[in-house]
Amino acid sequence: MLDKLKSIREQTLKQLESVADAGALRQIESATVGKKGEVTTILRTVGELPLSERPAVGRLANEIRQELEAAIAAREELIEAQALAQSLEEGALDVTLPGRPVAVGRLHPATQMLRQVYAIWADMGFQVYRSRDVEEDEINFTLLNMPPHHPARDMWDTFHTTTEGVILRTHTSPGQIRAMREYAPEPIRVILPGMCYRYEQITARHEMQFNQVEGLAVGRNIRMTDLKGTMAEFARRMYGEHLQVRFRCSHFPFTEPSMEVDAECALCEGKGCSVCKYTGWLEIGGAGMVHPVVLQNGGYDPRVFSGFAFGLGTERIMMVKHDIQDIRAFWANDLRFLEQF
Ligand code: DAH
Repeated sequence: MLDKLKSIREQTLKQLESVADAGALRQIESATVGKKGEVTTILRTVGELPLSERPAVGRLANEIRQELEAAIAAREELIEAQALAQSLEEGALDVTLPGRPVAVGRLHPATQMLRQVYAIWADMGFQVYRSRDVEEDEINFTLLNMPPHHPARDMWDTFHTTTEGVILRTHTSPGQIRAMREYAPEPIRVILPGMCYRYEQITARHEMQFNQVEGLAVGRNIRMTDLKGTMAEFARRMYGEHLQVRFRCSHFPFTEPSMEVDAECALCEGKGCSVCKYTGWLEIGGAGMVHPVVLQNGGYDPRVFSGFAFGLGTERIMMVKHDIQDIRAFWANDLRFLEQF
């Protein structure tokens, strides 16, 4: 019996040396010093041995139990320490690494430009008036002095909806009629910004959608000089204080007289470059005195009231300021373009 005990000890200690996980350790424990383990069983049955053998077997079995329990505990500690070291190593967090940058969104360049334009007109007392993108043919054309079959309609290539007489607005000018009908006979000073749509061949210079900012001032004694001064002030604030502005005769059905407003090219300061096509001048928009028929359609008596109006293409302004060669870049959703602004 003593030999058996000794061999249990030898064998168990040897096994313990190589055991590497907690589960295997538990198995060894229960096979030896556990409730039904070999050593425990021997201890429990000492009483059945011949009297002479009992003290020696009992003592040795107790010794071995203690020795094995201690060895198991030591091994357990070691296994735990190893597991901890391993998990620390695997899940190591290097706090000295640089953080991951968080991508911050920003406004689309076209929106940034619109807001710059609003700010300038706000300084001059113009409020933003929102008008609709889906417009009636009558308001987009007829009430702006372009009756059906009027050749002037050819200037605007139009998207039609499946509803007769309902189109996508080709310019922001119909908002003039809506604003006038809302405010008449009060004086008006508004800008009407927003997306316009034209059924166009898309090229580097032409898109089928683009933003315009329309302006409208209606009141008593509003004159051409007011329009010229206002446009010149806008151009100076938008492009630079020292730049000249010029006005060219033009034609729009909804204004009389009508003109085209140019500013000296901000890039070459009038000397001539590729952006201004070597003319030294950049077109910034159309403008004119509101046509009496349009005033009347808006609900104002043209014998008492007068007004001026203008229309600016804001993507064009952005293209000039940043030397953007292709208007299609605005709606192509290419981050390499958008992230520059
Ligand atoms: N609606 C014109 C266009 O889209 C621009 C324009 C010209 C607006 C003259 C005006 C104006 O208000 O007076 O081409």
